[in-house]
Amino acid sequence: MITIHTIKELREHVSDARQAGKVIGFVPTMGNLHAGHISLVERAKKECDFIVSSIFVNPLQFNDKSDLQRYPRTLPNDQEQLTAAHCDLLFAPDVDEMYPHDQDEQSIVHVPVVSAGLCGGSRPGHFDGVSTVVTKLFNQVLPDNAYFGEKDFQQVAVIRKMVSDLCMPVNVITVPTARADDGLALSSRNGYLSTDERELAVGLYKTLNEIAAELHQGLALESVIEGAIRRLNSRGFKTDYIEVRDASDLSTVTSISTGTQEIVILAAAFLGNARLIDNMVVTLNRGIV
Ligand code: PAF
Repeated sequence: MITIHTIKELREHVSDARQAGKVIGFVPTMGNLHAGHISLVERAKKECDFIVSSIFVNPLQFNDKSDLQRYPRTLPNDQEQLTAAHCDLLFAPDVDEMYPHDQDEQSIVHVPVVSAGLCGGSRPGHFDGVSTVVTKLFNQVLPDNAYFGEKDFQQVAVIRKMVSDLCMPVNVITVPTARADDGLALSSRNGYLSTDERELAVGLYKTLNEIAAELHQGLALESVIEGAIRRLNSRGFKTDYIEVRDASDLSTVTSISTGTQEIVILAAAFLGNARLIDNMVVTLNRGIV
């Protein structure tokens, strides 16, 4: 695998691959890679001939500057993992390469509605930063397929809507969340957890499973969510949100209707210094009572 740092070199390499008839797969990341990222590369390998990954800690998507500063930068280790996964090219630009002008002068891509609420509500500007950097990366790489993890469910919805609204010629492909043995969703932010917190962290996944079970049993949505927030807080978390939305477009679900309904339970919660997110897609099939 070669590592390059400039858009010019990136374009040259990708253009050579395309001229050789290769299908270009792209895995954008912010580094500090774990098995979840590698599963994206592995999926891309199955479907594409030339795999580009990017590592760029995007300042535009951090509403909290101290969060940006402490975000782990682990390039040598990331390079090793990408090499082992047979990634062909790593694009690792610095901030000046991606944002050569003052950030206040940067054009912004805003995806309405799906960006609002959930993580968009708790992290103002976050999804504008994501959609802007992903647009730039798509324009730089010009991939056929781009791969994202389902753990960031709202991010995927935002990117899919952006690609559709702006007619971007990219297939957005999602890959199931990679989990530790106890069920905790893998995340770069898990590294912020102390040993004790790491043991408690599975409480988030447990809570999602309990919500799913209660909804299957036919309990009322509002009381299920209230109970889940209480339980998550008693498990050592400080709940940011737990919501149930329509899985197809993230529209609000206020009650569970009869018939088949595909919903997604989304949660974000703080555990010590880490803000963890997770989600679960559930197909409910309620008969007429
Ligand atoms: O999911 C991430 O790691 C980032 O939000 C992304 C898509 C690489 C954009 O910076």
